[in-house]
Amino acid sequence: MRNQIVAGNWKMNNTTSETEQLLNELEKQSLNQSVKVYVAPAFTQLSQAVRQLEGTPIKVAAQNMNAAASGAHTGEISASMLQGVGVHTVILGHSERRSLYAETNDSLKDKEMELIFCFGEELEQRKENNHFEVVRAQLAVLFELPEKAWDQIILAYEPVWAIGTGETASPEQAQEMHAFIRKEIEENYNSSLAEKVVILYGGSVKPSNAQEIFSMKDVDGGLIGGASLKASDFAAIVNAF
Ligand code: PGA
Repeated sequence: MRNQIVAGNWKMNNTTSETEQLLNELEKQSLNQSVKVYVAPAFTQLSQAVRQLEGTPIKVAAQNMNAAASGAHTGEISASMLQGVGVHTVILGHSERRSLYAETNDSLKDKEMELIFCFGEELEQRKENNHFEVVRAQLAVLFELPEKAWDQIILAYEPVWAIGTGETASPEQAQEMHAFIRKEIEENYNSSLAEKVVILYGGSVKPSNAQEIFSMKDVDGGLIGGASLKASDFAAIVNAF
């Protein structure tokens, strides 16, 4: 059986005291033990979160990183810097990074980090029925990697039109895309890898719709933005399996 994962992408929210408070509240929640839970605070709060969550099953992820090992990249953070503060998972390719900061997939390199790799179509692309092609193109960079690298890859399908908009893909739309992604993995590798890869759905997941979405056969959990900022909502989503 595949891992079930719920990851909270805090985006540019939570100062030091707010982080402490949210994590305190989260630690008080009873969370479904069979679900792997991540939180992704801002870079400046990573060490603090790692320290505070030590001894709990909740893992800390970063929201981005640079593919270069070091050097002239003002304002950027490398994999070894993240590892140095105890962070071994990173969200890559979030649509806000792609659209606001013109980031592409090209910089994807194996840095011995676990990746939560985000991708998904925009509204126009779905309306034009291009969403499968768009997703296939976004995944192409991953399909260049050796099969072994997939041990460290979690996929997160996030249709851009559903992020932060309150509009969610229907469970059927999510399932249809997740099944397509599995098929793509099978065609590029093999069926056993396709069965193994964890595929999260992201985009306006909340306590009221999580259960329906997570009940879909190929949906293994969620990447949660807005609803991850409130401990009780985030816990309700974790417990929606
Ligand atoms: P949302 O964000 O849950 O607020 O729609 C999801 C994401 O951006 O990962």
